[in-house]
Amino acid sequence: MRGLGGKVAIVTGSGNGIGAAIARRLAADGVKVIVADMNAERAASTVEEIAKAGCTAEPFAMDVRAVDAFGRLDILVANAGLMDREPFLEMTDDLWDRVIGTNLYGTFICAQAAARQMVKQGNGGRIVTVASNSGIFGGRGRAAYGASKAGIINLTQTMAIELAEHKILVNTVAPGPSRTRVNAGAEPSEYIRTRMPLARYGDPSEIAAVAAFLASDDASFVTGHVYAADGGFTISGMMDN
Ligand SMILES: NC(=O)c1ccc[n+]([C@@H]2O[C@H](COP(=O)([O-])OP(=O)(O)OC[C@H]3O[C@@H](n4cnc5c(N)ncnc54)[C@H](O)[C@@H]3O)[C@@H](O)[C@H]2O)c1
Repeated sequence: MRGLGGKVAIVTGSGNGIGAAIARRLAADGVKVIVADMNAERAASTVEEIAKAGCTAEPFAMDVRAVDAFGRLDILVANAGLMDREPFLEMTDDLWDRVIGTNLYGTFICAQAAARQMVKQGNGGRIVTVASNSGIFGGRGRAAYGASKAGIINLTQTMAIELAEHKILVNTVAPGPSRTRVNAGAEPSEYIRTRMPLARYGDPSEIAAVAAFLASDDASFVTGHVYAADGGFTISGMMDN
């Protein structure tokens, strides 16, 4: 991707799964990556993989709910998220607070801290948020998760409008079912395969490629948009014939 070499990025939740793939991809594109995760061991293992590939990264143990300052920063990928589910009628305040707190508030607080730093630096910047197909349509057990991801999409649009004057572009990547710690099996469920034209899990590297595009100069006229990397899941209706 154009324009990534020498930039500094923070990728939250990059100790595993999609975040780790985004960190590896940006590092391979020449970005100095801060691998931020609340699990310090996982952050360290992503950094080790990046170093083995001859690229640059630093581990940073943090909880996205408690971040208020960064150093120099060109790119934030706000990826950290919880996918915990509970049926609506049984949903507890605790689950609601944890999911909304990590996903929506975590994205807000990281993006605000990053944007303030970028405004101070005066050279613009990129913020890539991570939503989900669950932020685009409803899903069983996803009252908190879906609301948090729909909130991230709207927050992204608002940030794109308010930060444009500072040359900070803000977009979201919306993954479909992807093979990570959460989805450890070889195949998605039959229900998902029936509805999803590509009928397979996405590989985290396929989500990372879209995030890298949104962080690069190749996306210089793109702001406020949702890029689904979802095997066609969200454009497919229920009708079979
Ligand atoms: N895997 C999927 O199928 C899928 C689909 C759609 C969207 N997503 C989204 O992609 C993102 C990454 O998902 P994943 O499957 O790679 O998840 P994962 O659980 O495999 O990895 C998430 C990482 O985030 C870290 N993390 C969790 N809470 C944190 C916090 N408060 N502060 C800092 N780090 C924290 C965890 O320690 C973990 O290393 C999430 O936002 C998720 O909602 C995933």
